[in-house]
Amino acid sequence: MRHRLLVPGAAALSLMLAIPASAADFTPGAPGAGDSYYPESGNGGYRVSHYDLRLKYQPATDLLEGTATLLARTTQDLSRFNLDFGLKVSEIRINGKKATFATSGKHELEVTPATPLEKGKDVSVVVRYAGKPSELKIDGFTAWARTPDGGVVAQEPESAVWWFPSNDHPTDKATYDISVAVPDGTQALSNGVLTSKSSKLGWTRFNWRSDKPQATYLTTLAIGKFDITTDTTADGLPVINAVSPDLGANLGAARASIERTTEVTEWLQSVFGPYPFNSVGGYVPNVPAGYALETQTRPFYGKKAFDKGANVSVVVHELAHQWYGDSVSLKDWKDIWLNEGFAAYSQWLWSEKEGEGTAQQLADYTYAQHPADDPFWTVKPGDPGPDKQFDSAVYDRGALALQALRNKLGDEVFFDLLKSWPTEHRYGNAAVGDFVKFAEKKSGKPLAEFFDTWLYQPTRPAAAAGARAFV
Ligand code: ARG
Ligand code: ZN
Repeated sequence: MRHRLLVPGAAALSLMLAIPASAADFTPGAPGAGDSYYPESGNGGYRVSHYDLRLKYQPATDLLEGTATLLARTTQDLSRFNLDFGLKVSEIRINGKKATFATSGKHELEVTPATPLEKGKDVSVVVRYAGKPSELKIDGFTAWARTPDGGVVAQEPESAVWWFPSNDHPTDKATYDISVAVPDGTQALSNGVLTSKSSKLGWTRFNWRSDKPQATYLTTLAIGKFDITTDTTADGLPVINAVSPDLGANLGAARASIERTTEVTEWLQSVFGPYPFNSVGGYVPNVPAGYALETQTRPFYGKKAFDKGANVSVVVHELAHQWYGDSVSLKDWKDIWLNEGFAAYSQWLWSEKEGEGTAQQLADYTYAQHPADDPFWTVKPGDPGPDKQFDSAVYDRGALALQALRNKLGDEVFFDLLKSWPTEHRYGNAAVGDFVKFAEKKSGKPLAEFFDTWLYQPTRPAAAAGARAFV
């Protein structure tokens, strides 16, 4: 009989060294979640179910101090694991015991527990830290914006590393309790509902709770002075809106737009099905930014979004993301069309409903604006690459693809798809390929070639690809 084991295997080796057989199998968790665009985003070896953040922020100095408690579960035997984080850590405890840690990469924190962690076990990780988030630069960029009276963090695809340690990838969603103390007279806003607020020794503490799965990049914090208004939707969902009183000439337009949140949410429910979270709203801090972000339950809107007056369309876009992007999240950042294509298309549907041009008219117009040799058509919405992830083609060609799909399937099947996709995938993750299969199943039609033309070819699809001429 031939011996296949010429070199001692792990089990034999551990016997020889008189260590438990399993100890040799404990390995470090991967430093990334395996994302095609952002290899360092997220980590391997564990999943987080809940983040409890207890923070204190001083606007005058930009000092953020905090303790984060992560409730996680291991998915492999771990000798150590990584967190994604950029601020200075003073202590980490795992299951109550002090752990050692080191930094590596752009924002990796390598944590080694006192004793290795077995697969499939609940683990608590407590991280104490402090730092000035606006001074943390990664590739020359900071996601934390200081304002005259506070600070704001709302960025995609990465923002958590500026303010809390996490498994920073949308495939690991968790619930959140975010408690923030700020000087009296200042407010702290975050996701979900305000469960309580109290003042002592000159500091006011705001406690926010988000009780449905939430991706790290959709977790937001805004500190400063805000005019807060509350409302409820027709079915009793709390609406919490906040606008900085210091927006100058844009103040009226910002307020007039954010005030439409209740109405827009009710309309979106008629298109996409039940709203997935415990509250809704929006906030406009005093930052010069022109972008907006679908931070969960409470989108962020940069002041410049209201330079030209009210902008209800951006409210529609960010609230549409609550279904497409937030409740149903991408599996990999290359799946960004599942977020932006649908949010952009919802703006066309709003226009159609408001009598300001049908989705077909807007599709015709958009198609005509980009001649065949326009570089616009070289961007593949189904896999645009990290540099083109938020290119206008992901949004506009992405929406054109949906209008073409509507023409191909007819309104009945198309609108059933728009509603059943977020309903059947609620709180989950999906890839573009999953949507293609779902659409094929719902429609009974082969659609692989159709989606290949619209999402994966670096050329202008023939107008007829939508089964109806665009122009
Ligand atoms: N998802 C955002 C939107 O609603 C895009 C944010 C892009 N980020 C940025 N910093 N420009 O369109
Ligand atoms: Zn968007």
